[in-house]
Amino acid sequence: MQDQLKQIRIEFDSQAPSVSTPEQWQRLRSDYIGKKGSLSLAMKELKSLTPDQKREAGKHLNDLKVYIESRLKEIEDGSVLQPKASTRSAFDPTLPGRRQAFGSQHPVTQVTEEIISIFYSLGFSVEEGPEIETEYYNFEALNIPKEHPARDMQDTFYVEEETVLRTHTSPVQIHVMENCRPPLRIIAPGKVYRCDSDISHTPMFHQIEGLMVDKGVSFSHLKGIMDQFLQKVFGANTKLRFRPSFFPFTCPSAEVDIQCVMCKGQGCRVCSQTGWLEILGAGMVDPAVFNAVNYDPEEWTGFAFGLGIERIAMLKFGIHDIRLFYENDLRFLKQF
Ligand code: PHE
Repeated sequence: MQDQLKQIRIEFDSQAPSVSTPEQWQRLRSDYIGKKGSLSLAMKELKSLTPDQKREAGKHLNDLKVYIESRLKEIEDGSVLQPKASTRSAFDPTLPGRRQAFGSQHPVTQVTEEIISIFYSLGFSVEEGPEIETEYYNFEALNIPKEHPARDMQDTFYVEEETVLRTHTSPVQIHVMENCRPPLRIIAPGKVYRCDSDISHTPMFHQIEGLMVDKGVSFSHLKGIMDQFLQKVFGANTKLRFRPSFFPFTCPSAEVDIQCVMCKGQGCRVCSQTGWLEILGAGMVDPAVFNAVNYDPEEWTGFAFGLGIERIAMLKFGIHDIRLFYENDLRFLKQF
């Protein structure tokens, strides 16, 4: 077999230099590596060899094929065939242009922008705060004392002693109130971090904080704003329910539910058969928080609320696993 391959190579080398037209090039190609070319015939003979011989001969055969292909390519690229060859690969001005594929906005960004624009129309402006916070801003100023369970190492990522990745957007309330005098109406979207990961929790997720402070702000203002907001996000006639709750930085506090968007209150898997979905936490700003920022609680009142953006996006788009948002699988992302 080896001798046969040597012979093929010698013959090829003697014929190759005389190729000067595309037709001759085609013929050379088919004589050697075409379906009925010398190499294909040699390949058929492999069958009659022992496995060891086959392996050895197969390698030589392959080397020769690679050699012949590269020589053919050289001749094709060479000057003699250039005019023909180049017309074949030339720029064709009659072809339609290639469209630039546009990306799309991440569902979390889409929902964030939608919520911002709703609150913008209600007179709220957007504020931001740092993601790395001192314990003072994340906890103390928000009336969360040292022994509070929310400070547990299990929930909070500590960067170093006294410094944490913020566990909620509420510290932005403190920064804003330290820097501005009331009246104020702000929302603060951003990333928050908690040491938690499963089908409905990721270690990083997004919240939107809201804060309104003025003279005479009452719980009914909070109810009115939440009603307006949630009707816009989930559609007119979305029913709301306020449940008493507890947050150290609001008093009274409430959790706001909407009637389940999947079953319209009938009870299903998504709402755990209750007919209601918990959407956000809210309440009247606790006087202790006003004291921390030197606002006089006798003069000013306000409400605050906080919601998880991924949760809203999951309900709006019918997504069951929060982790999908951060796997960057294009088959998922392209649907938005
Ligand atoms: N910060 C709270 C949380 O992360 C939400 C909240 C914000 C509740 C503002 C009341 C007022 O769960």
